[in-house]
Amino acid sequence: MTTLEKIVSLTKRRGFVFPGSEIYGGIGGIYDLGPLGVELAGNIKTAWWENIVRKRDNIVGLDSSILMNQKVWQTSGHVESFADPLTECKNCHLRFREDILPKDKKCPNCGKNNWTKPQMFNLMFKTHIGPVEDKASETYLRPETAQGIFVNFRNVVDTMRVKLPFGIAQIGKGFRNEITTGNFLFRVREFEMMELEYFIFKDQSEKDFDYWQKERMNWFISLGIKKQNLRFREHKETERAHYATRSVDIEYNWPFMEWGELEGIANRTDFDLTAHAKASGQDLSYFDEEKGKKMVPYVIEPSVGVGRAMTAFLIDAYHEEKDRIVLKLHPKLAPVKIAVFPLLANKPDLVKKARSIYQLLTTNYQLLPVAWDDRGNIGKRYYAQDEIGTPFCITIDFQTLEDDTVTIRDRDTTKQERVKIDKLAKTLEEKFS
Ligand code: GLY
Repeated sequence: MTTLEKIVSLTKRRGFVFPGSEIYGGIGGIYDLGPLGVELAGNIKTAWWENIVRKRDNIVGLDSSILMNQKVWQTSGHVESFADPLTECKNCHLRFREDILPKDKKCPNCGKNNWTKPQMFNLMFKTHIGPVEDKASETYLRPETAQGIFVNFRNVVDTMRVKLPFGIAQIGKGFRNEITTGNFLFRVREFEMMELEYFIFKDQSEKDFDYWQKERMNWFISLGIKKQNLRFREHKETERAHYATRSVDIEYNWPFMEWGELEGIANRTDFDLTAHAKASGQDLSYFDEEKGKKMVPYVIEPSVGVGRAMTAFLIDAYHEEKDRIVLKLHPKLAPVKIAVFPLLANKPDLVKKARSIYQLLTTNYQLLPVAWDDRGNIGKRYYAQDEIGTPFCITIDFQTLEDDTVTIRDRDTTKQERVKIDKLAKTLEEKFS
């Protein structure tokens, strides 16, 4: 059975994810991406950006700042409403999020059921701009990237000749001072988000909401998540964020909690643009040419954390077979695409030939990164690549020196085929397409 512990162990052991500040005992709810994690996360972000921005002529990208004027957060409602109920165990004095306590309400630390009255705790990290620490210099690390999009709405409309419906997409860091962190990258205090604000005509809300639900679900499936591990769940009114009139989660069947949010899709209406227009005194409307008048668009927002998506991709790809652990990651997501091995490291002819193939793939071939490994025996090298999800391993053996062929081993089937070196690039290209 795939457990979160197995994923945590593999990702630590193989350089995907390290606990933050580990040499000092860590820091709650903060993780660092290791050499393979940064590749995997990068591939997830690229896949999202390609799907959302590059393949659509009505969606543009943005990269706004993490720090924004404090008025942004006052106006957006986050200062007042971006909070979770906090309760303290009267026995051990640890604090927890009241709405996600276990069903039996027993303290996860000491097992007693004796709680203080919950109080709302704002999740934004406060900081100060400049050398003076007073109210006027106060601001927050952004808890969502979306506000950077709303405050740049006018700039994008004025510069990009966009026509409703159109979207502005952004990938960037978000910060939330979660009361209770846990389950690896599922609930953390610093994370990367991929957010789309899709601006629409109000009367198209339901249609566009349905469209984005399907699009986003299909994206996860197209990158290898099994259909049966995904479902939609409509939020009850009491669950919705202060800005949303409708929210649907794409839920994943997590091993640690069964179904839970992977991505959220919300109808934020004209809430944010209207509030910012009023507070800033700026015109954040759109001129509807057909009707000949100004209007404030509605917005549908699909929003997903890179770390949460990464955890789902890893869990879904994790397989234990008779004598190996294999990550069957989609080739687009795999942190290493190809590994090249000389059969034996102590045969200079083999190593030289293998090096020339490594050079060929790294310089002429775009599906980087390519790994090189000449340590230990060949079986161990295959298993090491299986564990990090490398789709193909190329081995240069004695036959290579005779007939210029190499073997390509397929990660999922472990089957090998022999191909001529001059056909290698084309064969791999076909396999990755
Ligand atoms: N922008 C969506 C969220 O903050 O969850």
